[in-house]
Amino acid sequence: MSFSKFVSFVLILHLLNPTVVLSSSFLSSSNGWSEIPKKFLHFAKGPELVDWIVGIRRKIHENPELGYEEFETSKLIREELDKMGIPYKYPVSVTGVVGYVGTGKPPFVAIRADMDALAMEELVEFEHKSKNPGKMHACGHDAHVSMLLGAAKILKEHLEELKGTVLLVFQPAEEGGGGAKKMLDAGVLKNVDAIFGLHVVPDQPIGTVASRPGPLLAGSGFFDAVISGKGGHAAIPQHSIDPILAASNVIVSLQHLVSREADPLDSQVVTVAKFLGGGAFNVIPDSVTIGGTFRAFSKESLTQLKQRIEEVIKGQAAVQRCNATVDFYENEKPVPIFPPTINNKDLHEHFQNVARDMLGADKVKDMQPLMGSEDFAFYQEAIPGYFFMLGMRDDTGPQLKSVHSPYFMINEDVLPYGAALHASLAARYLLAAEPKYHSPKEELHDEL
Ligand SMILES: *[C@@H]1O[C@H](CO)[C@@H](O)[C@H](O)[C@H]1NC(C)=O
Repeated sequence: MSFSKFVSFVLILHLLNPTVVLSSSFLSSSNGWSEIPKKFLHFAKGPELVDWIVGIRRKIHENPELGYEEFETSKLIREELDKMGIPYKYPVSVTGVVGYVGTGKPPFVAIRADMDALAMEELVEFEHKSKNPGKMHACGHDAHVSMLLGAAKILKEHLEELKGTVLLVFQPAEEGGGGAKKMLDAGVLKNVDAIFGLHVVPDQPIGTVASRPGPLLAGSGFFDAVISGKGGHAAIPQHSIDPILAASNVIVSLQHLVSREADPLDSQVVTVAKFLGGGAFNVIPDSVTIGGTFRAFSKESLTQLKQRIEEVIKGQAAVQRCNATVDFYENEKPVPIFPPTINNKDLHEHFQNVARDMLGADKVKDMQPLMGSEDFAFYQEAIPGYFFMLGMRDDTGPQLKSVHSPYFMINEDVLPYGAALHASLAARYLLAAEPKYHSPKEELHDEL
């Protein structure tokens, strides 16, 4: 636990800090601050900073760690924050780190990166490929961490621009482990007014960003079900209860949840992605395990799907004399259902203003919602939050594969963009929010 005096001071204010809601007209009144994004990008693209960010990204890429095991990644982050003289709180939720840069006073705004890798083998031939068998940064979290450290450096070098305090949130276990929920439960966002997060994407051009107000990514849940029958000789079915046929009917019936029970205008997915059963051509097995995921854009739809998935699996199994148990991982995950990622509308305007000032209006795109999900959504349930996609496609370079592919690669040219966007979104947010704190801030000083 590293807990400097400065951090305790920041945390006290952080806890006393009243919640502020920014109106959209307020956020857009950014006259005079329009140079910050360009200035930060210019700074981020300086050769020294680029080499440093790229070096960090490669170090993390070589040593991928799974959720809640990001000990070396977390250590590297803390070492870099130490070198910059940025105080932090650690550990938060096992491996998480929260850095503080700015005045130490409200308003507080958070920028977030996820640290964990995926349990898969890297197939990219690259000097800095994964040195940990069966683990790979195939979702770009190595880039996300290095960009947030880059933002820390930009902010530290431009302290005069900070009218409040930026929290640098490095969270564990984004990939299904609900690290964001654990960080939230640890009180990380108490009295923080807004949070920003981003994801690198291989299919949009470098130097562009995309997002939308409202629902951006779906909420999700996962299930496993064991369908039990009675094993026996494949040639004498009358003496067995066949779980393979029962499971097959279960899967077909599950398809009706979206096609017949859901509102066609409310996008939903139920996918059975796992079917494990049987090992011989002449033996009916005792049981079959199936598993999958369900997605939707509202809590109501997700809850409804979860309930109906259980009913359909048990009911359809019973039709064929089988028993079924359904597991929604309620004990292993922080919550059985991950919420949808819903972008705050005022922050959308803020994001567009900042991104346009940095990249130009034509580089800031709207996008359709995606059925993928992101645990950033937990933060957005607690405070206004905004999540966006950062393009890294470069048609003159190698063709980039999709996230979670064993051939996934980062176009490292993206790193300064992410760092500068994080830093600019936070700095400009504080500039907009600070005047609202004028009187509560004086009161806080008197109390302290
Ligand atoms: C299902 O469960 C009931 C009650 O426990 C049991 O009597 C029956 O044998 C089970 N059937 C199968 C196919 O496992």
